[in-house]
Amino acid sequence: MDNTDILIAPEIKITLSNCLPPADSSEMTADIITGLTSLPPYIPSRFFYDKRGSALFEEITRLPEYYPARTEKEILSDSASRIINDIEYADIVELGSGDCSKISILLDAMPPGRRRSVKYIPVDVSRSAILKSAETLSRKYPEISIHGMLADFLKHLGDIPGENRKIICFFGSTIGNLDPVQTSRFLLNISSEMREGDQLLLGLDMVKDIRVLEDAYNDTQGVTAAFNRNILNVVNRYAKTNFDPLLFDHLAFYNKTESRIEMHLKAMEGLDIASEYLPDPVHFEKGETIHTENSRKFTARNTGEISELTGLKLYEVYSDNRRWFSLLHLIK
Ligand code: SAH
Ligand code: AVI
Repeated sequence: MDNTDILIAPEIKITLSNCLPPADSSEMTADIITGLTSLPPYIPSRFFYDKRGSALFEEITRLPEYYPARTEKEILSDSASRIINDIEYADIVELGSGDCSKISILLDAMPPGRRRSVKYIPVDVSRSAILKSAETLSRKYPEISIHGMLADFLKHLGDIPGENRKIICFFGSTIGNLDPVQTSRFLLNISSEMREGDQLLLGLDMVKDIRVLEDAYNDTQGVTAAFNRNILNVVNRYAKTNFDPLLFDHLAFYNKTESRIEMHLKAMEGLDIASEYLPDPVHFEKGETIHTENSRKFTARNTGEISELTGLKLYEVYSDNRRWFSLLHLIK
């Protein structure tokens, strides 16, 4: 891990720790090649988030159909005063921090004196997301110190700095993008890194009407489709493949058995994908799909199971009137 002080603007300096391997390292390409050569083929969803992917996700959060972002923000606004009640001299760690709009709701609710005592630690695989959000936050709240971490939250939780009490935020139902094994490991990992008194805020998107769920991932403006296809540009850069994203259709549907939205890319014609990292080109028949994302939807029973898995105390479940989204507040 290397630590650098970065001057984002003449008056804005933040510390950035980089835990990620270099873009051209075998560690990055190996996960892609394994996925593409598996049956059925898949691409790990963390590869959505290059500069364009992060910008497209931000656009998704503003779509009328994408209720999760709006609903979680509404919940955070309504419960902010309770959540921040005893956040003082603490490190606020946000995993998969994205555009920082959710943490702003909590910071807004704090008096400036209290904000001065906290450090904000955004953790994300997207360099552009960290730098952009650090700039936005520094301009809005010049009194808070920011230590960004370019890191994979599945691998680098142990590298998160700080001696103070921690408030760990994992918003957006990003936990729903993990598979069940990753989810259990991740939750155990988080709780083992927490010390007594540390808190975890965990956002969960809940099971609801299938039309509402499917519309959220099939918006009429085609932003989610562009986000889905963009993963192929990222793969081309890392794995030196020759995907043409425009030759793939966006597919998103609810898998009721698994309680998850699945996103796939469907080949519109027969294609051969080559790369210097592949012994032979990978052939896709017309209609064959690449699985790019799962987005699990949770039930009230799952919230209990999750709390049990972490071994943390469930202090509160904040929700909206329709119970479309839940924010678990857990304490060690
Ligand atoms: N929390 C924000 C952003 C959600 S989008 C919100 O609720 O709006 C998911 C974010 O997690 C993206 O910014 C993406 O870059 C990041 N991310 C995805 N996989 C990750 C991983 N394995 N480690 C760290 N960050 C990851
Ligand atoms: C980040 N993650 C929780 C989003 C989701 O809803 O699963 C990513 C996304 N994929 C398509 N639209 C949004």
